[in-house]
Amino acid sequence: MQNQRKPKVTISEIMDKKKNNQKITMLTSYDYSISRICNEADLDIVLIGDSAATVMLGCDSTREIGMDEMLTFCKGVANGITRPLIVGDMPFGSYQTGKSDSISNAIKFLRCGCDAVKLEGGREVVDIIKNLTSFGIPVMGHIGLKPQTTPLYHGYSSQGKTAEEAVKLLSEAKAVEEAGVFSIVLEKVTSEVSSVITQVVKVPIIGIGCGPHVDGQVLVIHDMLGLYKDIEPKFVKRYLNLSGQIFDAIKEYENEVKTGKFPQEEHTYHMREEEFAKLEKMLRRV
Ligand code: KIV
Repeated sequence: MQNQRKPKVTISEIMDKKKNNQKITMLTSYDYSISRICNEADLDIVLIGDSAATVMLGCDSTREIGMDEMLTFCKGVANGITRPLIVGDMPFGSYQTGKSDSISNAIKFLRCGCDAVKLEGGREVVDIIKNLTSFGIPVMGHIGLKPQTTPLYHGYSSQGKTAEEAVKLLSEAKAVEEAGVFSIVLEKVTSEVSSVITQVVKVPIIGIGCGPHVDGQVLVIHDMLGLYKDIEPKFVKRYLNLSGQIFDAIKEYENEVKTGKFPQEEHTYHMREEEFAKLEKMLRRV
């Protein structure tokens, strides 16, 4: 575990990456086992996304997950991470109800081992962001396609296709920047508009489905590992076909159990011979 010796990534290191023209790497994770691998791989940021609702719980929408479930995922992730910055995604309903709820819920994330929280929204969340940051809680913004609400109005289509939409997105980015976020997730926005926002805004822009001209990239880890063969958004690159590999392994196991090929001698524990002889004697007496 080489990375356990490296110091924790800080908020200023993330912000400096933009100034130094270094790309930021971020993936989602929801449990201990995958987080240990993310830690070793030296990612900059691990996000416990509210996408946990869909990829971990099989829900139709991220609106269906609440604080308790998110905090359980955070605990597993935090136990597996020593180096990357850990960001907890504030679920639908955990910050919209006001400053006091948002503060107490953000503190729950920090107590579970997160270093920062993320929340979706533009102008409507400016006061919430200002309040959280005034108490020293680092906040990551999230604009463009906002999965908690956008699909209700516009489905999952890409954003920023007209000049008017572009201006609106830019003003949202400026608003959350001025409110104090340390970085912004930009989701499913045309490459042209993403590039403009990245040039105008000073904090790092981390894109998902926004093309290459942003300060960093984030993907849902299940998508890039190919854990769901039926879901394939255009913006995802599949680095593995894990669902296929897991399926093959399960079938091989099934077959080996049925045919007696598993377990073998190397998987088996034994009694000492004299102990077994003693047992045989005892059994005979019985
Ligand atoms: O919940 C999530 O996984 C996210 C990423 C798509 C950025 O918000």
